[in-house]
Amino acid sequence: MFHQIDLDQIDISTVPPLEEPERQYYFMAKMREVVQSEAKRLGRPLRVFNLVVGCQMNAKDSEKLLGILKEIGYVETEQEEQADLVVYNTCTVRENANQKVYGRLGYLKRLKQVNPSMQIVLCGCMMQEPNVVATIKKSYHFVDVVFGTHNIFKLAELLYTRQESGSMVIDIWEGTKDIVEDLPTQRKYAFKSGVNIMFGCNNFCTYCIVPYVRGRERSRDPEEIIKEIRELVADGVVEVMLLGQNVNSYGKTLAQPISFAQLLRRVEQVEGLKRIRFMTSHPKDLSDELIEVMSQSKKICRHLHLPLQSGSSRILERMNRHYTKEQYLELADKIRRAVPDISLTTDIIVGFPGETEEDFQETLDVVRKVRYDSAFTFIYSKRTGTPAAAMEDQVPEDVVKDRFSRLLKEVQQISAEMSSRDTGNVVEVLVEGINEHRDGYLDGRMSNNNLVHFKGDPSLIGSLIPVRLDESKGFYYMGTEV
Ligand code: 5AD
Ligand code: SF4
Repeated sequence: MFHQIDLDQIDISTVPPLEEPERQYYFMAKMREVVQSEAKRLGRPLRVFNLVVGCQMNAKDSEKLLGILKEIGYVETEQEEQADLVVYNTCTVRENANQKVYGRLGYLKRLKQVNPSMQIVLCGCMMQEPNVVATIKKSYHFVDVVFGTHNIFKLAELLYTRQESGSMVIDIWEGTKDIVEDLPTQRKYAFKSGVNIMFGCNNFCTYCIVPYVRGRERSRDPEEIIKEIRELVADGVVEVMLLGQNVNSYGKTLAQPISFAQLLRRVEQVEGLKRIRFMTSHPKDLSDELIEVMSQSKKICRHLHLPLQSGSSRILERMNRHYTKEQYLELADKIRRAVPDISLTTDIIVGFPGETEEDFQETLDVVRKVRYDSAFTFIYSKRTGTPAAAMEDQVPEDVVKDRFSRLLKEVQQISAEMSSRDTGNVVEVLVEGINEHRDGYLDGRMSNNNLVHFKGDPSLIGSLIPVRLDESKGFYYMGTEV
């Protein structure tokens, strides 16, 4: 376990070990020396600013990066201008995320002119794209370290290499079979945590860049997962979110295969753990066994995120999703029958190449039939290198925008109706923090992922308590502690 390792005990006068994670402990100890001497010179600790965008996976990766940096001696700052080290953990699932990064790099260039010793690190999915790295090399010379999604555990080593070489360090791996365990993390919340159960994706939905930037599916050993969850619980965590691009195919490639449902059964047995969530489920792999485990479980939350993407079977086939509209509807029905109080949420893309008004009407039809608690709606974004980018019949922008706003209206109306269905009930909530808009109020999260605002003492943060849902405000409730 990482926090039993004492960096002071590591002999940094010798050559670095070749084995992981020992090699990284060595570089953490090396970098700590560098950071300590710089902090002494400045008369203050060194500060890191971390910007993370994108999905839960990225959020978890940033916790790992910050864990390493804290170990090295950095303290976190919210003020980018005051940072000695700036880390951008990027997303590339849609094109506009990339544009934002280039925009911010312009701003960082100016900051670095004022403070030349500022270090800039770029990592995450966007860096796995060769054209991005080429652009950074050519036009953004002031960047210090660039790495991707497969080697975030190497942060200390890369910072040290930058220190020694004096020039930009780029380390992008195309993929990896290995999963390096036992590195530090800095959790954002004391009482809940994401837990990676698998990395990568093998599905190759034709619009999606994730399989190219996150690599092939690799599952973590169930023993490692359970060990991590036990440690988290011992450290005060009551809720875990099991993370994977497609959790339903967890375990298939392990030497001793195990299903996601079996893993959930094991996680359920961890004493002291109160709530289990998971993200994301691919409809094609959602098994009856999983539905059964969910219906029997006392800890698995009453929420399932089940990305639809499109309601048209014709478009679903072009998307390579491996299910039809009818199969999706049947699955949603089956889940609702087994777990009647479940909240279903989804992702929908509008404007996929070749989408006609009839196809779009099929999507609206599914939205009306399933009645999602909430839905993330996206305008199709062309990602270079994916099969859909080469499809000829791209939909004109004005048509897509019109469909998008019609979809959003429908989704919002249904979700306001759905989210109010528990009015008057008393539910258990996990108190997550102080409400930012109302003095004296707290935010509580229900099992079905909805939020309730209620009056309460901040000492309740992190505990599970009963709250009455007095009034629905569409996307959240106002409630009273009971
Ligand atoms: N364009 C728009 N949305 C996309 N998503 C993935 N790739 C694209 C793309 N090229 C959406 C999908 C996925 C979510 C995480 O992002 O809906 O479920
Ligand atoms: Fe992308 Fe499809 Fe994999 Fe999800 S399942 S990450 S949408 S390729």
